[in-house]
Amino acid sequence: MPADLSPIDKAKFAAAKRAVDFVTDGMRVGLGTGSTAAWMVRCLAERVREEGLRITGVPTSSRTAELARSLGITVVGLDEAKWLDVTIDGADEFDPQLNLIKGGGGALLQEKIVATASDQMIVITDAAKAVQQLGAFPLPVEVVPFGWQTTKALVEETLVSMDVLGRETSLRMNGGNAYVTDEGNYIVDLHLNRIGNPRQLALVLNQIPGVVETGLFIDICDIVVIGHGDGKIELRDVNQGTVEHDQINFADAKNIFADLGD
Ligand code: A5P
Repeated sequence: MPADLSPIDKAKFAAAKRAVDFVTDGMRVGLGTGSTAAWMVRCLAERVREEGLRITGVPTSSRTAELARSLGITVVGLDEAKWLDVTIDGADEFDPQLNLIKGGGGALLQEKIVATASDQMIVITDAAKAVQQLGAFPLPVEVVPFGWQTTKALVEETLVSMDVLGRETSLRMNGGNAYVTDEGNYIVDLHLNRIGNPRQLALVLNQIPGVVETGLFIDICDIVVIGHGDGKIELRDVNQGTVEHDQINFADAKNIFADLGD
């Protein structure tokens, strides 16, 4: 393992490495987006190379598609795959019911469509993303560019009657311009601090014309794989109500790190 990998990166890697054990031959796999998901794509690619694992990947962003292809994973669009066996993705926050905030990386729309089209969604994460209540991480809301300021104002008006602690909103920027998603939309981040009723908030925000989707993933995630910097793993299965512990041996992953040029 590269000596300069931070404890957080080791934790992300450990979660990703354990999660790809859920993938078996012939599966159609949703490939998430973000730094944790990128480790998962590398770990899957290693299994493709080393074990001859045959899988079809459905990426949730142009970034992930590029990475997966460059590592030799067969990639198709969701319309070709139609239904997936499993999606493995990161998250920005998860609560005890495994409700999530996602979209810190801007890919929430494709991520939600792909995860919803999967028999199972597995979230890979480090322990720092566990919260009792969602909302410390700004909630991304994807909006169409047409009339975005009106949509943002309607979102703000809606927040007045919602059980949240903060009500600031901001248009996500990329340098001097609005950040544009893979679908050509904008993102408004909601600084809510605490979300009392995530299900209600998701339903209400989705009613506003101009809102395409929110980063609240309610009842979508089945399993969370929490990695730690020392390779310890905790697996929580919300459907079974089980918690398991495991350990990743970093020495087993030397090929993946060799790919990274270390
Ligand atoms: C991408 O849009 C997000 O939903 C990511 O899954 C989330 O932000 C986690 O990213 P990291 O793994 O980089 O923290």
